[in-house]
Amino acid sequence: MTELKLTPKDPARITTDALVIAVAKDGKSARLIAEDALPTKAESRLSALLPALGVRGTADEVVRVPAPEGISAAVVLLVGVGERDVNDETLRRAAGAAARSLAGTDSAVMALPATTAEQVAAIAEGALMGAYRFDRYRDSDPAPVKQLELHTPLARDKAGKAALERAQVVADAVRSVRDLVNSSPAHLYPETFAEAALTAAKGSKVKVKVLDDDALRRGGYGGLVGVGQGSSRPPRLVKLTYSPARAKGHYALVGKGITFDSGGLSIKPASGMETMKMDMAGAATVLHTVLAAAALDLPIKVTRWLALAENMLSSTAQRPSDVITIRGGKTVEVLNTDVEGRLVLADALVAAGEEDPDVIVDIATLTGAQMVALGTQVGAVMGTDEEREAVVAAATAAGEQFWPMPLPAELADSLKSEVADLSNMGDRWGGMLVAGLFLKEFVGETPWAHLDVAGPAYNEGSARGYTPKGATGTGVRTLLSLLERATQ
Ligand code: BES
Ligand code: MN
Ligand code: ZN
Repeated sequence: MTELKLTPKDPARITTDALVIAVAKDGKSARLIAEDALPTKAESRLSALLPALGVRGTADEVVRVPAPEGISAAVVLLVGVGERDVNDETLRRAAGAAARSLAGTDSAVMALPATTAEQVAAIAEGALMGAYRFDRYRDSDPAPVKQLELHTPLARDKAGKAALERAQVVADAVRSVRDLVNSSPAHLYPETFAEAALTAAKGSKVKVKVLDDDALRRGGYGGLVGVGQGSSRPPRLVKLTYSPARAKGHYALVGKGITFDSGGLSIKPASGMETMKMDMAGAATVLHTVLAAAALDLPIKVTRWLALAENMLSSTAQRPSDVITIRGGKTVEVLNTDVEGRLVLADALVAAGEEDPDVIVDIATLTGAQMVALGTQVGAVMGTDEEREAVVAAATAAGEQFWPMPLPAELADSLKSEVADLSNMGDRWGGMLVAGLFLKEFVGETPWAHLDVAGPAYNEGSARGYTPKGATGTGVRTLLSLLERATQ
């Protein structure tokens, strides 16, 4: 694992494998943003080389050159930050791209612009998120960079140290989410997920309660039982509570935790099934957000609910046309067994609401329609007006992208059933909104936000910035910032 420190020392004089310097795009040419990190002579030599190196300064560009005289590092790693007006998120991405390409290296010094605590936090987060490798099933080769030093005048400052500490907690949470999501569904199923939650919470201020399949049946959790009944590996509902002494409010977080979504009897085509180990990303996000909130001692009560089931097909699987009863008594006709997320979430939302939280937030890889609407890098947020806007603002502050979406009452008609209170399948058009409208039936009057991260949770393309291929950990930063802002 990468070790990260702040340093106030002159970066040009530190003996290290690589010195990381930012390059911005400036019209058609590129420009170093070295501030006073480089001796004048070395800076002008490097600047003069940029055109011949073909360096453009675009985001995700990384170029290594032998260090010129006057710099103690072996190489200079030039990392593009894109257009000139660097913000915290462009720095976060550049630090991530640099850290990613430093894999196999022992040590590096980052001399990116870090004069504010926010910039220190962004660079530290980006670097630690970028230096991620999933190594559960094989050795990391090349291994992530071992030691990073981040140059900042705030290195000895309280604000700088606090920024680094918070960044470490955030990055740990993101990395832990990625580890869970990338895990094979052969190893991660409801029971082992619940065990992972117990292990992760050990020694923290978070209490864990696991409802097993018997408890779920007795408790009337028909959604979890119905979705999970086709699998030999039964469902679980995990409840975690973080309840500090002087809590300013109570947030309930609910996560979709389908450890594998085959579609059930309404089976998915093979190509659509390949990535469906990621269908528990919401639950993983909620788990590690609450642990991060506890690690940061946030003065807010957080209960979280992980709705865990495996959606499989067998002679015991639920059938299209089965009618199930969600906790609290509403009946649902299951017309398509691949529309399972909203069934397990409905149980968890009802359970969360029973404890009278001030706000409920759920996060789920819920619909393919989310990807049609917003693509793979922007998440959707629906819900009551104030909470939806609070999530958008929290996301913006954290450097994640969530876009507000409506819940048009007209679409709810398509969820009517001939035989039950609701059907699980509504209109195909606006499928993401229909899913949101279904969930709305189970939150009552509590202020609520619903985050659909079907696209952003898992990167099927190539790595970029601090985002690796595979699991991304999207949502952790937004939810944590939402909780922090609620305490301010
Ligand atoms: N887990 C999927 C949604 C999903 C799709 C997440 C792609 C990430 C990437 C969900 O359970 C599902 O299967 N939804 C179907 C519903 C359809 C059969 C009506 C979908 O959106 O395609
Ligand atoms: Mn499905
Ligand atoms: Zn699903």
